[in-house]
Amino acid sequence: MDRIAITGGAPLKGSIPIYGAKNSALKLQAAALLSAEPLVLENMPDLADTRFMAQLLASLGVEVAWIKEARTLRLHAGAIASTIAPYDLVRKMRATFNVLGPLLARVGHATVSLPGGCAIGARPVDLHLKAFEAMGVDIHIEQGYVKAAALRGLRGADITFPFVSVGATEHAMLAAVLAQGDTTLRNAAREPEIVDLADCLNAMGARIEGAGTSEINIRGVTSLKGAKHRVVSDRIEAGTYALAVAAARGDVLLEGANYDHIAALAELMRRAGVEVETEARGVRVRRNGGRLLAQDFETEPFPGFPTDLQAQAMAVLCLADGQSRIRETIFENRFMHAPELARLGAQIAVHGNEAVVTGVEKLIGAPVMATDLRASVSLVIAGLAAEGETIVNRVYHLDRGFESLEAKLAACGAQIERQRGD
Ligand code: EPZ
Repeated sequence: MDRIAITGGAPLKGSIPIYGAKNSALKLQAAALLSAEPLVLENMPDLADTRFMAQLLASLGVEVAWIKEARTLRLHAGAIASTIAPYDLVRKMRATFNVLGPLLARVGHATVSLPGGCAIGARPVDLHLKAFEAMGVDIHIEQGYVKAAALRGLRGADITFPFVSVGATEHAMLAAVLAQGDTTLRNAAREPEIVDLADCLNAMGARIEGAGTSEINIRGVTSLKGAKHRVVSDRIEAGTYALAVAAARGDVLLEGANYDHIAALAELMRRAGVEVETEARGVRVRRNGGRLLAQDFETEPFPGFPTDLQAQAMAVLCLADGQSRIRETIFENRFMHAPELARLGAQIAVHGNEAVVTGVEKLIGAPVMATDLRASVSLVIAGLAAEGETIVNRVYHLDRGFESLEAKLAACGAQIERQRGD
């Protein structure tokens, strides 16, 4: 298995291009099922996860063409050949569950495996299913599969989510666009990925208003057409490299990053002592000088501090002056990076959903591994700041969500390389 070797201590200087957002791209890919005409997605991240979603779509009958040089994916669901998403595919990547809504909207029935839990928490899909039931879908769970049918078509509904869910908001949108009548989603998620999905669906002829606010109104249409859409830039990738600069020191332009999408992180970084500024071409991050200051934060739905940057921020705060308190409010088991950071010398005490990080003066490289994508990259960040060599194992987690990670960091002066395994 591949591993990543990092020799810490080199400051980062230069610029890093920020690619399209994985978590938006995956839902946009599912949207291709809604139309018999092609959907062309530009600024597509070429990742294990987006390739995997494309494979699932191909198994449902979608013609898939990657135009790699143009970072473009063309999806053409002229006819739906299958309405079954099997366990082996959904188990490996939860976002594949998102084909359920578009299949229901397009052909009226689908059989999709329940995703099951994952390393960061139980992650049920009850809100997704309740939204579909409200739209008139009959749902049966049999042998681990959701068997869903809306034989008389989907009908618009007034849905209030009991708490904010990105996935359920997106999934309800993906179905409601082709429902009969109007749908209102209340207490909807406000993430930039929701706005991106609404923009793409509207370009396909959908009528969605209010995306980016907590009330989304959708007027159902009878069919959608093809479209060309540019995937929004990845705020989590941008935030991750911003935190890498905070850890390693230096001066880096995050090209194509949108400041407004990482404002909560930028405020925290500024309080800690890092310069973060918006520029015409992206966001510049600079850190010189002494130790950063400890910071308390908690994860929240957008526009709050994102759970997908919690591990990376913790890695930086391990070296800050003072004690930082971090509360994880989105996922119940998202501190698995803490014991691995401790292998580098970090002092972290975890009590339930709160971690107390007591900053140390230095970290020392060690072999480490992690069980999810963001936790893995937090170990890379810690490795960039640690003395000596850090080896990050289980690199396949990183490959799920960070395209060209080593190349982007090495181009800015990091001493980092991928060591090929068997
Ligand atoms: C998305 O997951 C992202 N994944 C996650 O990124 C991200 O951490 C999360 O949103 C929060 O921002 C993708 O977009 C593919 P939720 P999602 O529904 O949609 C609970 C990464 O590293 N819940 O907003 O699954 C759920 O268990 C990944 O890229 C229910 O209880 O997140 C969680 O505690 C990890 N029932 C909370 O809600 C439901 O039906 C918020 O989850 C749905 C969710």
